[in-house]
Amino acid sequence: MADRYAVIGNPIAHSKSPWIHAQFARQTQQEIEYTRLEAPLEGFARSVEEFRAAGARGANVTVPFKEQAFGLCRGALSARARAAGAVNTLVFGADGLHGDNTDGVGLLRDITVNLGRAVTGMSVLLMGAGGAAQGVVGPLLAAQPRRLVIANRTAAKARAMAQRFGASAGGGYGELRGAQFDLLINATSSGLTDEAPPLPPGAFAPGALGYDMVYGRDTPFLAMARAAGAEARDGAGMLVEQAAESFLLWRGVRPETAPVLAALRLG
Ligand code: ATR
Repeated sequence: MADRYAVIGNPIAHSKSPWIHAQFARQTQQEIEYTRLEAPLEGFARSVEEFRAAGARGANVTVPFKEQAFGLCRGALSARARAAGAVNTLVFGADGLHGDNTDGVGLLRDITVNLGRAVTGMSVLLMGAGGAAQGVVGPLLAAQPRRLVIANRTAAKARAMAQRFGASAGGGYGELRGAQFDLLINATSSGLTDEAPPLPPGAFAPGALGYDMVYGRDTPFLAMARAAGAEARDGAGMLVEQAAESFLLWRGVRPETAPVLAALRLG
């Protein structure tokens, strides 16, 4: 019987992860079955336990359960999951649950490998101070940007986060007036309600990259980036790269992401 995996979230119907992992499995000739699993909002831990008891080998975790997954894995967390305070990859071992987080490394791989931008030495703006932003700030800092500023609608949250992670600065969008960035990453959920973070004019340096972690949607932030003459990218590449890192953790082999990303973009 094929080894079983799933992506667990709520809602989960539109997740592309089963399709992505099916491509990886075919490409690497692995026998796996990867499905969607919708856990009740109050029943995440039980859903994980039932899935594991049924013989599954691991799972991806998505909105809104990444922090709960972190809580379930206390004692068996990777360093990057611990830094993020969230788990997106569960490995079901003989000795219990292991939690990891591949979101940050997925974002970094998309920016540096797929989009060919070196984060090292860049001036970076990270927008948002929720789970999505926290998941990527550690790996972003590890890439040694010249500076990393965190901006958030609720300024105090960005300030606290900048302090906790050792970023250059954190605050509200108004405080960005006059500053310019080479890489602007939207880790807010603003795109989901067709809004953009209130960036002051001139925030995009010439040749900048505007990156929205939301995928499959032309968000107002991406339109803003294009209007400022910047390159604009959605989070499809991050989605495929974080999936590849999870696949590597489970299967010990890293799939080729380029053909899968190209096919995903074609829809
Ligand atoms: P996630 O797990 O996706 O990060 P979250 O923890 O609810 O979700 O965080 C959402 C983030 O998007 C927050 O940083 C939020 O800002 P606040 O902390 O001020 O609430 C940000 N956000 C949501 N809608 C936004 C909007 N329209 N403009 C700017 N920021 C927005």
